[in-house]
Amino acid sequence: MRRRNEADNLKISVAIDGPAGAGKSTIAKLVGKEYNLMYINTGAMYRAVALKAKENGLSSNKVDEICKLISKMEMHFENDDLIVDGENIQEKITMPEISNIVSNYASIPEVRSILVKLQRDMSNKFDVIMDGRDIGTVVLKDASFKFFLTASADERANRRFKELQKRNIECSYDQILKDIIDRDYKDTHRPTDPLKKADDAIEIDSTKLDINGVVEKINEYIRKGKK
Ligand code: DC
Repeated sequence: MRRRNEADNLKISVAIDGPAGAGKSTIAKLVGKEYNLMYINTGAMYRAVALKAKENGLSSNKVDEICKLISKMEMHFENDDLIVDGENIQEKITMPEISNIVSNYASIPEVRSILVKLQRDMSNKFDVIMDGRDIGTVVLKDASFKFFLTASADERANRRFKELQKRNIECSYDQILKDIIDRDYKDTHRPTDPLKKADDAIEIDSTKLDINGVVEKINEYIRKGKK
């Protein structure tokens, strides 16, 4: 992983935003490998907050307690997974019960400001590829490359359904589609840092593209832009 040093002015940061299930994390991991960038999954950080708050019985109106809890959490990424206080929590945070509550915590302005600061600290230390909802618009406004990845709600529900089935997690397609539509609404309508395409982001619709097709498109933009 490329760690930056003071004299190093060759900074690279890649921002990937888009709605739930558009394939951001799969694609960010692959592009990250290609260019030796640290992959920062910011959705995982919001999910970790939801998980820990749930474990501690803190509903989303307990803002002070939640902020205190976050200040005690040590979060870092190892091999693309989020490690919190030494535990790999990747499996736990992708369970449907966390997906269904995470936007309640992600919409708290105080939570966002703490996590945005942590994310910027990571990008100051490492060359990163970061995915989320507000990376190009808030976290890394000066990112070297910005992409906005979309896909139809049906296609995104279909992908999530197949992924959960593969993990033997009981689920219904209709429920997943409903959850995705609800989450899109919440992500795009919250007052603080809603999901929106940055003016200077390149939009890629992945509905009819496979993973390699999207990765190749992004790699091409980066290759062309890299001096
Ligand atoms: O990408 P994801 O589904 O793992 O994101 C989980 C939740 O966190 C989702 O409700 C959107 C929110 N989120 C956010 O508000 N800002 C980010 N930068 C990343 C995720």
